[in-house]
Amino acid sequence: MLAVHKDRIANAVSRLVSENAFQVLARAREIEATGRRVVHMEVGEPDFDTPMHIKQAAVDSLMAHDTHYTPSAGMLDLRAVIADYATRFRKLSTPYTAENVTVSPGAKPIIWNILSTILNPGDDFVYFDPAYPAYASASKYLQANVHAIPLLESRNWRFDLDELERRVSDKTKAVVINSPHNPTGGVLLKTDLERIAELAQKHDFLVIADEIYSRNFYLDAEYVSIASLPGMQERTIIVDGFSKAYAMTGWRLGYAIMPAELCKNVTLFNNNTFSCVTSFVQKAGIAALTGPDEPVQEMNATFRKRRDRLVEGLNKIPGMTCTLPEGAFYAFPNVQQITHDDKALASFLLEEGGVACGGGSSFGAAGKGYLRFSYAASLDDIDYALEQIAAVLPRYKA
Ligand SMILES: Cc1ncc(COP(=O)(O)O)c(C=O)c1O
Repeated sequence: MLAVHKDRIANAVSRLVSENAFQVLARAREIEATGRRVVHMEVGEPDFDTPMHIKQAAVDSLMAHDTHYTPSAGMLDLRAVIADYATRFRKLSTPYTAENVTVSPGAKPIIWNILSTILNPGDDFVYFDPAYPAYASASKYLQANVHAIPLLESRNWRFDLDELERRVSDKTKAVVINSPHNPTGGVLLKTDLERIAELAQKHDFLVIADEIYSRNFYLDAEYVSIASLPGMQERTIIVDGFSKAYAMTGWRLGYAIMPAELCKNVTLFNNNTFSCVTSFVQKAGIAALTGPDEPVQEMNATFRKRRDRLVEGLNKIPGMTCTLPEGAFYAFPNVQQITHDDKALASFLLEEGGVACGGGSSFGAAGKGYLRFSYAASLDDIDYALEQIAAVLPRYKA
């Protein structure tokens, strides 16, 4: 085997952060291979099958010979459908057009391409902690000056607005928000968005709104996108995709929506990296956005039941307390009465109890002392996981 010398790997690679959920998944699979039952609550993917009409659209497209390259921004008909959907769903006064949309193999690569487009080394970039790891990974790789503002359990995983005000300035290039939020399930209120919007306009920064969980939303209120607030559409980059709403994680289909000039530049990165997205997968995306919405609503109703069962159960386990998530499909219990070493506890629960979950600190320093459970698991699996946690936890030595 070719030995890899240290100097064969670029220094910049040391600034990359890895998504821990995939490592936990690998270990969980090893344990399963020995014949033991493992409940998968580590990865953020719906356990439902992709709705049939979406699969059929991909099959039809393949059979109609959609097997070639497409434009780097995505097929025009898909971009037009996304623009129309985004305008209606977010109730925007200025309609988006295909020119505002760029399509990618999942939302993760477009986060990289957006940050590569806007960040110079040393630019101030703000995100919230804990957070989906791609923001820290990409911005650190690009040598931005990173500010991570803690999200507060006491505010149901929203941040202190005054702290945000103290941390942004005319030097701030962009702030990324993610509501509903991975890993906490928190949702920003309209008043939070209004304050961010006010600061964005005062200091002239961009807002990257990662709205990939906008359809996984359980509040009895309307979903509000920051793009719909006065003066914000022209300074908002929306990140969205099909993975979470339509149970399409393996298809790899995401997109971003932004002012047209910016969009051309982000597309240049698409062109230089993945060239374009799989043709028949894009046709499936059209079917998802134009077809029946009931499958999405049914999946969400199921997620809601699972959330209630899991959170109620976690709150009964001595030493754990859990806020009620308002969106996404994650519960983020506080385990600080048991330990602050969340990763060691997560590993113990997997090895001893067969329950795969994530340590909160994998999502940033402010996640220390928390665990992340994805409730994309059946009620039966959730009940089993709760029983297992309760059974093995007394043996845990912090
Ligand atoms: C907040 C957030 N943004 C983006 C993504 C990327 O999604 P995908 O690349 O599967 O479309 C994820 C996936 O877990 C996420 O949690």
